[in-house]
Amino acid sequence: MVVSPSNLLDQVLDYANRANPYPIYAKMRKHPVQVQTDGRYIVSSYELVDAILHDPQMSVDMRKSNEPGVRIEQEEPGFVFQDPPKHDWLRHQVMSKFTPELISGLQPRLEEIVKELLDAQRPNQRMDIVDDLAYPLPVTAICELLGVPRADEPKFHIWSSMIIKGTNLGKDPVAVQEAMQGRDHLNHYMGELIDKLQRQPAPGLLSALIHDTTYEKRMNKAELVTTAVLLLIAGHETTVNLITNSMLTLLRNLASFELLRHKPEILSNLIEEVLRYEPPVQFTIRTPLTDVTLGKVKIPKGAIVMVMNAAANRDSARFQDPDRFDPLRPNIAHFGFGGGIHYCVGAPLARLEAYIALSALARRMQNPRLLQDPPPYRESPALRGPRHLLVSYDHIA
Ligand code: HEM
Repeated sequence: MVVSPSNLLDQVLDYANRANPYPIYAKMRKHPVQVQTDGRYIVSSYELVDAILHDPQMSVDMRKSNEPGVRIEQEEPGFVFQDPPKHDWLRHQVMSKFTPELISGLQPRLEEIVKELLDAQRPNQRMDIVDDLAYPLPVTAICELLGVPRADEPKFHIWSSMIIKGTNLGKDPVAVQEAMQGRDHLNHYMGELIDKLQRQPAPGLLSALIHDTTYEKRMNKAELVTTAVLLLIAGHETTVNLITNSMLTLLRNLASFELLRHKPEILSNLIEEVLRYEPPVQFTIRTPLTDVTLGKVKIPKGAIVMVMNAAANRDSARFQDPDRFDPLRPNIAHFGFGGGIHYCVGAPLARLEAYIALSALARRMQNPRLLQDPPPYRESPALRGPRHLLVSYDHIA
């Protein structure tokens, strides 16, 4: 077994490496299963990441690990941190409401939001892609979809950020404390909203889940709260990075931006390539329910296993010339949305939002230039993306 000589995971977590973690991932892949001096395992090849994501012995429930504090502890975690059968039951109920018809029905409204946001930038010749477009779009969308008042966003944005900061793998006790406070505030807020919707049904997915009569067994209040919080945070903290990482990559590869302007039909494939090349979720976490052997390495029950989705996405055993951004790349089966039973519920929504935002930018923004490269990054190593992305342009059509 290889003991990571330089604690490569710690290097990924180090903010100093946030702008470019890819050389560290390349070092990881030289020994696709390795263990750090603190006992955490790192898995980084395409083949083994794929195997873990489909292995029923690899649990997402950190209460079953030797280090339960690695996640913010709570009695009823969101279903992304739960195993079958509970996971499947909760996910099924959400999926029954999160239909393709619902998502495609959102298209005109999403186009309207993007139009308004870009129109507001017409008098200017520079904008922050994050604050002016990539953040407000998914936030407005998820609020309207769930039926959460958009006006409350400044409040729950703070709580959501506190929670994300605390998921820095449990090594900073102050951040963990703050994350628990953020979680308590958000749970309380959601609990009150659920009580209100219970008394008075309203449009939106949350009310639909509360008043669902299809199932004999109904979700209880704690399950409703954590499911709603999971959807709100996921809708908040990820798509912003997909849109921003896409724009950053395009402005670093202006030939691709020009190609997109002339051939808008490549956009869907281009978004998949960004999900491979600069994935908004860089890694996920699992713990084995029994001793397992992975790539000839024995991993004990309860160990922390870091699943490096972003490293696997650049594995040369699977992708030709993996460090090259190629919007025309064929057959991009990336791990940007995970894999197996926890595959992202919001993938169709995230793809649609990114599609509408990027097609409007490519069409309307004339001669864009990056003003700062690398841009300042958000703190989270897992949900990775720029905090700001300043661009200048001649005008917005
Ligand atoms: C570009 C945007 C997004 C990315 C890159 C992303 C990525 C991911 C990934 C990698 C996972 C798997 C986690 C794991 O294996 O442990 C996941 C799960 C999940 N995502 Fe997303 N996500 C995005 C947007 C969204 C949105 C908009 C929503 C909600 C509306 C959402 C809801 C969820 C949920 C509920 C799960 C848990 C699924 C399960 O455990 O069965 N995501 N996402």
